[in-house]
Amino acid sequence: HDLPPTRLWTYGGCMPGPSIEAQSGKVLRIDWRNLLPSKHFLPIDHRIHGAEKDQPEVRAVVHVHGACVPTASDGYPDDWYVPGQSRLHTYPNRQDAAALWYHDHAMGINRLNIYAGMFGHFIVRDEHEQALGLPQGEQEIPLTLSDRLLTTAAQLYYPVSGNSEAPWVSEVFGNAMLVNGALLPYLEVQPRRYRFRVLNASNARFFNLKMRDGRPFVQIGSDQGLLAAPVSLRNLFIAPGERADIVIDFAALAGQQLELVNDALPIMQFRVGSGRAKDASMLPAVLRDVPRMSESAATKQRMLTLDSYQDCVAEPMLMLLGGKRWHEPVTEKPVLGSTEIWNLVNLTDDTHPIHLHLVKFQILDRRPFDTGAWMDAQAVRYTGAAQAPSAGEAGWKDVVQAWPGMITRIIVRFDGYAGRYAWHCHLLEHEANEMMRPFEVV
Ligand code: C2O
Ligand code: CU
Ligand code: CU
Repeated sequence: HDLPPTRLWTYGGCMPGPSIEAQSGKVLRIDWRNLLPSKHFLPIDHRIHGAEKDQPEVRAVVHVHGACVPTASDGYPDDWYVPGQSRLHTYPNRQDAAALWYHDHAMGINRLNIYAGMFGHFIVRDEHEQALGLPQGEQEIPLTLSDRLLTTAAQLYYPVSGNSEAPWVSEVFGNAMLVNGALLPYLEVQPRRYRFRVLNASNARFFNLKMRDGRPFVQIGSDQGLLAAPVSLRNLFIAPGERADIVIDFAALAGQQLELVNDALPIMQFRVGSGRAKDASMLPAVLRDVPRMSESAATKQRMLTLDSYQDCVAEPMLMLLGGKRWHEPVTEKPVLGSTEIWNLVNLTDDTHPIHLHLVKFQILDRRPFDTGAWMDAQAVRYTGAAQAPSAGEAGWKDVVQAWPGMITRIIVRFDGYAGRYAWHCHLLEHEANEMMRPFEVV
């Protein structure tokens, strides 16, 4: 009641920022102006690479996650700029309808900028999707999930480790689960079908979404747009950076209250109006053609480890991809138009949501292996059979959950543009601590 407003940094004055709508095939230009103050209101840890003392404290650059764009418009982490400057980015949108999102990507501090509120939806539309007759207009609703630590004065709190041996907090989790920036909101719905564009924009929290009463819902899309066919789910496990397109039909639920939960904890409520509502929307049994990519199309295989690494006890622990830090020379140089298989060899105890800029990909499988016996690509000791991706993961993706103790294989065609891009873990504290690498399409 008497609490002051929460201090945020945002795009366009709200958290999340305004949903940007783009049409497939139509070029969109955005002039991103950095009007931030010159001092950060969240604590900057100068021991983290890219946040060194000689760097300007406040800097920003916008990345549209999931967009296929020329490198100059990608929001490469080192392309940040300071308050008073701006960048004109071009988005060709030569891609299928999908719920992309935009967020800050400035080296060393994007975990703070995003935590402060710098993210929003970027929805690409196309004619194919339009013709399906899915719920739209007031029946299509973005659900952006994030968690924050709030002080008793309703201000954002970002923890800093007091420990000199481990100067970073390796995952930041909040005590408040927010939907579209609101705490425990409710939505008044009519007894008809709704489409929800779910985005996990948290720094580090995975959500396991369910309806409190266990009723199933339908997933129709993932990161890069529609699945081949609707999938019925009772829970949706969604990692930071991932998106899911879901449909809930409230037609038979007039007058009822439903709750969306994360495991058992409340997230939001749906209050279904009474009476009957006319519903002309459709949920077609076939959504689009998603041809499976053939392994034989790949001209290169890469083995890329996900590992934590400590130089000496006095140094902070690093999270590394392929054993390398961000500023080491580029080692992944796929040829433009070629197809590769990337084996993500997870040697840690955690799931890492791995994201590649520029491209969309498919998940081939995940296979358990003996991490203790890991030496190199030639001597992998598999300990079980390969597991195919779940139906909800079988469409086009741009984030993959690389599970611990598994080698996760993705198949990628490096289409679009030549140039330098990033791939990284989407746990933002991992990304800031070297779990990010460049790749260069040549
Ligand atoms: Cu959500 Cu490098 O991106
Ligand atoms: Cu991205
Ligand atoms: Cu990670």
